Amino acid sequence: MVTLTARENRSQKKCIRGLSRAMETALASLGPCGPVSLNELRGGGGSSVAAYPLSKEGWRNARVARCVLKATCRDGDTVQGEWQPAFRKATTVQVVPHSPFPGEWSALLKGDAEELATILHTKAAELLRELVGNTVVMSRLAARHGGGVRGACEMCVPILGWELRPHPYARECVSLIHYTPAAAWGDVRQALIGFAEGNGVRPPLAADSAAVTAADAPHLDGPPVWWPRALYMLYGVVRQLQKYDEAGVVMPDFKFLNFVVEANGWTRAIDHEASQVLPWPVLLQRPPAARRLHPVDAPLWSPLYAAPEMWAEDAGYLLEAAALGDRIARQRLLAAKCNEPGLHALYEDPTLLSQLRNVHGGAGFACQASHVWLFGASLLDALEGMREVVKARAQSGGWRQSIGGPNKVGLARLQRLARACMVPRPGARPGLDWVAGQLLGMMP
Ligand SMILES: Nc1ncnc2c1ncn2[C@@H]1O[C@H](COP(=O)(O)OP(=O)(O)O)[C@@H](O)[C@H]1O
Ligand SMILES: [Mg+2]
Repeated sequence: MVTLTARENRSQKKCIRGLSRAMETALASLGPCGPVSLNELRGGGGSSVAAYPLSKEGWRNARVARCVLKATCRDGDTVQGEWQPAFRKATTVQVVPHSPFPGEWSALLKGDAEELATILHTKAAELLRELVGNTVVMSRLAARHGGGVRGACEMCVPILGWELRPHPYARECVSLIHYTPAAAWGDVRQALIGFAEGNGVRPPLAADSAAVTAADAPHLDGPPVWWPRALYMLYGVVRQLQKYDEAGVVMPDFKFLNFVVEANGWTRAIDHEASQVLPWPVLLQRPPAARRLHPVDAPLWSPLYAAPEMWAEDAGYLLEAAALGDRIARQRLLAAKCNEPGLHALYEDPTLLSQLRNVHGGAGFACQASHVWLFGASLLDALEGMREVVKARAQSGGWRQSIGGPNKVGLARLQRLARACMVPRPGARPGLDWVAGQLLGMMP
């Protein structure tokens, strides 16, 4: 069994552990060896906060922060383990939604234990979605690709441990705390921005420093960027997505922020709250073209990256509201070109919208072909960030005229590839094998 011992001031001891024995057993198999206890040394330095309203259930919010963990394996009297960099994610949901009275939570705690238990179990199931998602994805990857837990860990970051407990001060809230091993280069977007900042540049590309200037390197026409490494990393992401496809795993919330990069350049997925799997018969018996378009639920996704099919339901409402003169809906649709390209595509092509609305009973959906759009949209967004960084380096480094030939070519080629992935009609989108081939073709 995995036990978590975070070193924190616990005002409330009402920890709700081991709500599901099956989950515990599954998670225990992911740990290095058991019994294991994880001690958290320090938190802080929050790196991400994601909050969104849930229509019926109040709100949910997630805070992710770096910390250091120690896994101690007790083997008789021997205690082993080293402090390891990790990420701590605390996902909080409101237990008593829209509570009109501040005292309702305390009344519940004092009152009917059965009612409290029911509410907590419902909320626990909701919170456990990420753990269940992670376990489902890992078991599917292992089942399809072999290699057991170790093989699955090559494609998906394992969850080291978890705990469910009442929020320390927001008294009507329950939090799930879980830990993943920290990837050295952060997420794929951070790693790409790092390349634009000059990470990894060394002779013969330039002097051994990211801060090289035009005066230091007269042979260069712009700041040096380690493009082959960036291409190699992107190729790695596409290869991982191909493995997901082969295993029938669909990740509606795929984005570069949900793929992390290990010290050796290897990329793995995190954040499987929204992930789904195709039923085995669909995966094994349908021809590849039909399998690629098989719809699954998309319970959670990111508007900047989401494919048109995920927008099917929301776009319908927004277009209807805009047609009735709703100013906010109209403004949103106009701004969608930059902020929500998947929505913009449906705004431009109402025929496609009505076709997509017929696929999954009117609901938005994801399919394997969504991965290609999601990859393209993530790439486009990362390239914009990279361009800004390279431009700033060119200016401060004394390259007054331009960002330099190799950077222009690198950015332009990848931008063309990203746009080629963003074909609104899922059935007309290129395949991941084509994307992988394009990336290989760009390598020197
Ligand atoms: N194990 C990890 N290694 C490196 N970075 C991580 C790790 N876990 C999370 N992060 C960073 O924190 C961000 C948010 O984490 P994530 O689990 O995706 O939470 P959210 O639900 O907020 O999207 C990621 O985009 C990444 O930058
Ligand atoms: Mg995420």
